[in-house]
Amino acid sequence: MVSDDFFLNVGIDAIGFYAPKNRLSLDDLAKKRGIAPEKYRQGLLAEEFAVPEYGEDIISMAIMAAKNAITRGNINSKEIEAIFVGSESLPYAVKSVASILSAFLDVHENAFTGDTLHACAGATLGLLNAVGLINSGIIKKALVIGTDISKYPLGSPGEPTQGAGAAAMIISKDPRIARIGSKFGKVSGHVDDFFRTLYSENAEVFGQYSTMAYLNYVLKAYDDFKYQAGPFLADYYVFHAPFGKMPVKSFQRIMFERWFDNPVKLKAMLDKSKERAFTQKERDLILSGKEELHPSTIKTLQEWKFTDEEICGLNYFYKDWLALKLMPCLDVPMRFGNCYSASLWAQLFHLMETRVKENDTIYFTSYGSGATAISGMFKMEPGFKKLVAEGPTVLDYIRKKSRIPVEQYEMYKRDLLPAFLHTGHVLAAPENKYSLDIMECDYGCILPVQSELQHCPSGHPGVHKRSFPMLGIVAKIDEVDVEIKDHVCGDCVYLLGDVKAGNNVELSIRRLKVDENSGLIHWYPTYVLA
Ligand code: CAA
Repeated sequence: MVSDDFFLNVGIDAIGFYAPKNRLSLDDLAKKRGIAPEKYRQGLLAEEFAVPEYGEDIISMAIMAAKNAITRGNINSKEIEAIFVGSESLPYAVKSVASILSAFLDVHENAFTGDTLHACAGATLGLLNAVGLINSGIIKKALVIGTDISKYPLGSPGEPTQGAGAAAMIISKDPRIARIGSKFGKVSGHVDDFFRTLYSENAEVFGQYSTMAYLNYVLKAYDDFKYQAGPFLADYYVFHAPFGKMPVKSFQRIMFERWFDNPVKLKAMLDKSKERAFTQKERDLILSGKEELHPSTIKTLQEWKFTDEEICGLNYFYKDWLALKLMPCLDVPMRFGNCYSASLWAQLFHLMETRVKENDTIYFTSYGSGATAISGMFKMEPGFKKLVAEGPTVLDYIRKKSRIPVEQYEMYKRDLLPAFLHTGHVLAAPENKYSLDIMECDYGCILPVQSELQHCPSGHPGVHKRSFPMLGIVAKIDEVDVEIKDHVCGDCVYLLGDVKAGNNVELSIRRLKVDENSGLIHWYPTYVLA
């Protein structure tokens, strides 16, 4: 068992999540594609996925997730000395996402910024950077974000596994939420399971091979972690989730291939399941391999001279553990789809916000195609609950959803979503607690914090600081259905969608314009219906 001093005095100090509110039901998609809905629900363990709105991209999501972490943790953003962003949906081939975020999050100019890339393991590598820098005393506080939109072609086998979301965490010394372990499991190699070329929108994947690669690496990372840390049993297990079924398969493999052949663990499991009695009907069902234990596992156990009663006990134990230790976090892939680099962290946050207790341990495994797997452990801190109690929690985002028809999703995929952009004035709503401060030119282009560089590279006039309330009420609409291309915003704001005077709105940072010649992307503070 890992002891308390296995954990560093470094870890998670604040957490925040964000996902688009539009959700596509996989029952609707299955119907449209002529596929049995059970294939998605039972075969993949997936029910719906998040679909970004007009102009909503990984920057929009990362800013909201980071803002949530900073405000929930009551963090002074000027104390953040590093931003590391993991993503595989980068807006630029050259220019870091972390540098863009620094302008929106009001961090101190003396900070490290950079993107840490390895497919879905990007944010985990950012976390390792942060932990190393903090543990060695180089910096005190870092912001680590995973933000992604997963995309596969329309009608492809990967289509039902798409999704979107961002997870942000503040890493520091004396963390208030969880301390991280001092050892990690790691495995890497050149595996062609999944890739996206520079100019392609969608990921290419050798589907069945990719699931084999994932399972193989997750198990190897488990073995390496155990080798590094010694024997352990965690209270919860969290795995990267390309879709809900994959963490279940990972947990099954750890149990069947690493625990059931370990006499000490087996005895402990049998002892725990002793009080349970089985009816003849239950016994027949389990021993025929129709419950959780696979027929081949039952055969092995029989060869090892396990009695029928003991096999039934193990089945019960396995079922129980699956329900208690793994299933609680699967709401995340089932509701939002594959959030790539945010997937593991969003699940971990959901667990921390809903299930775990002080001093509980959580084993995690991150997987990045290509491929790498990293596993490690967290231990919950006394008093962490008050830091995760106040929302917006992952559950709040699960509930805050708007079901869209397949046609709207298909328009998004074809890049045909209508803009419907107005300009107007917004006042802070009475319940508004936070604002977002940025430097901008008169046309709304975002400028750096350094005063020496505060002029618009596009040649627009003006430099001013503006404060945008996160929650607002529309005071008036100035112009309806404007084109962002020519518009000078001045002191008005952009409003997206069917927004009218008196509506409650919330701030979102949207990618509204790309310069035709240079490809320079402009993100604008934009208000959408709350
Ligand atoms: N009722 C119930 N279950 C059904 C069913 C039905 N009518 N029809 C099929 N199923 C079950 C199948 O038995 C199978 O379950 P098991 O794996 O437990 O046997 C499951 O549904 C899926 O069926 P198929 O394997 O036939 O599905 P597929 O070939 O059409 O697609 C996939 C599966 C290859 C994973 C595809 O979804 C895909 O390409 N996904 C994207 C790639 C991916 O997610 N890979 C995972 C590892 S890579 C990674 O981890 C990085 C990352 O994030 C992408």
